[in-house]
Amino acid sequence: MSEATEPEAEGAVATSGPPGTCFFEVRRFSQVDSTNRYLLDVARRRPRHGLVAVADHQRAGRGRLGRSWEAPPGTNLLVSVLLVPELPPAELHLCNVAAALATAQACRRAASLETQLKWPNDVVVGERKLGGILAESLPAKGDGAPGSGSVVVVGIGLNVRWPPPEGDPGEASVPEDLRRSATSILRETGSDLDPQDLLSVLLVALDERMAELADPGGRLRLFAEYRRCCATLGREVAVTLPDGEIRGRALDITGEGHLVVDGGSGPLTVAAGDVVHLRGR
Ligand code: BTN
Repeated sequence: MSEATEPEAEGAVATSGPPGTCFFEVRRFSQVDSTNRYLLDVARRRPRHGLVAVADHQRAGRGRLGRSWEAPPGTNLLVSVLLVPELPPAELHLCNVAAALATAQACRRAASLETQLKWPNDVVVGERKLGGILAESLPAKGDGAPGSGSVVVVGIGLNVRWPPPEGDPGEASVPEDLRRSATSILRETGSDLDPQDLLSVLLVALDERMAELADPGGRLRLFAEYRRCCATLGREVAVTLPDGEIRGRALDITGEGHLVVDGGSGPLTVAAGDVVHLRGR
């Protein structure tokens, strides 16, 4: 283990990633504002595929749609990976798909916990959220030089120990809305896993998914698996959009990752929004 020496290390301690994976270095923070922010700044200077940042605590963790992502220090897995994938722009969303499927796989492998996905990339148990994915990208330089492709930072927040199990005295620390809508591996299984032990399981699973992303056939298989795992397809949903709400049956997910909803007067395609599952299939 060594103190990372680059100027951008910001006090991180660097270790190697799991052997044989593309994740060559893991920078660990006891605290940082946001692991996504950190890797985006690093990528602006030197985009290196496979760099990982993980934190015990984020002071300003970012969620989708401008929300925050919070957890008490040391309780959950808060990790970002820097990717420079060889993908056409329309397929960059598959990085999020890869991360969501890898997160589900890590839960299965480390905790025997079966999860589903909720569009676009939430990892859920029933209707409760266990994990979320936030991808943020930098535009491609397009000069053909190594590392000049699109840069994507994929952040994964996985609830390992928090929210605590129902009835636990620690429940008082959980905001009211999360008590109803969120869950954790500890709450679902009773297994008290160390978030940092889960990290290597997750990185191995994500490396397998990155290998699938590398060829067109693999991408088709990845997307087909995503559709199978996506509990939103076929459900009655309410989608909150910046300018209102639509309700209807979720019919399809397009190749670009957009959700197609039968809004009553024909199919509507939603690129980004918040989904609530209303009733069963
Ligand atoms: C969501 O809103 O569902 C996405 C949440 C993503 C949270 C993770 S935690 C690690 C990484 N760093 C951040 O600031 N956000 C992501």
